[in-house]
Amino acid sequence: MLMIDRTKKVSTDEKQAVGEFAAGLVEDGMVVGLGTGSTTAYAIQALGRRVKEGLNIRGIPTSFQARMLAVECAIPLTLLYQDPVVDIAIDGADQVDNELFVIKGGGAAHTSEKIVACSARRFVVLVDDMKLVDILDHPVPLEVMPDALQLVERRVSELGGKPVLRMAVHKDGPVITDNGNCIIDADFGKIAKPDRLSLDLSKCVGVIEHGIFDNAYEIFIGKSDGSIKVLTRKH
Ligand code: A5P
Repeated sequence: MLMIDRTKKVSTDEKQAVGEFAAGLVEDGMVVGLGTGSTTAYAIQALGRRVKEGLNIRGIPTSFQARMLAVECAIPLTLLYQDPVVDIAIDGADQVDNELFVIKGGGAAHTSEKIVACSARRFVVLVDDMKLVDILDHPVPLEVMPDALQLVERRVSELGGKPVLRMAVHKDGPVITDNGNCIIDADFGKIAKPDRLSLDLSKCVGVIEHGIFDNAYEIFIGKSDGSIKVLTRKH
């Protein structure tokens, strides 16, 4: 049983420590998946500093956010079309369970994140220990084609979930993803069988991609004392 104090606030230091640690995993000549979110942003900035010192890499951003930051940090970029095999993909997560199932998509970027992660030889996930749970219970983000919103809402309800259309902040109406779609956050309560739910959601017509990931190779956890803990997938 993981004991987690959920009253604790995650300090920037934990995200920064694990982000900078992950940047240290990157070696010269690598193609690097650049994830989205506040934790990975520290990794991108640290990679930018290493590039200025002479590190030769090509980055593949997973969102406008990651692309803008990578450009600002002068990280050379490439495309999966040109470099279809990614050496290492670095990304954050919203929740991680004991078996290394991961929920992503809090930033609505999980479709591109999953494409890049699945193209990677090594997919590493960066979190703080507030995001570790025994059983996943975070709502699962679904990227949905606008015409399929009601169809998907019905299907989520049939699967026992509560669908909520994600609304934008500082813009009227729903969140529109980098790909021009909407996001439904589907709350299934405790997810006892994430592999089963993942299959069911993959079968939903109109869902471009869902936020359950089963291919994290390692989870790096930033701790409040500045140390990093690692969970590795058992083969
Ligand atoms: C983006 O869509 C998400 O998958 C993020 O990677 C995830 O929400 C983690 O973000 P933070 O590092 O900001 O918590």
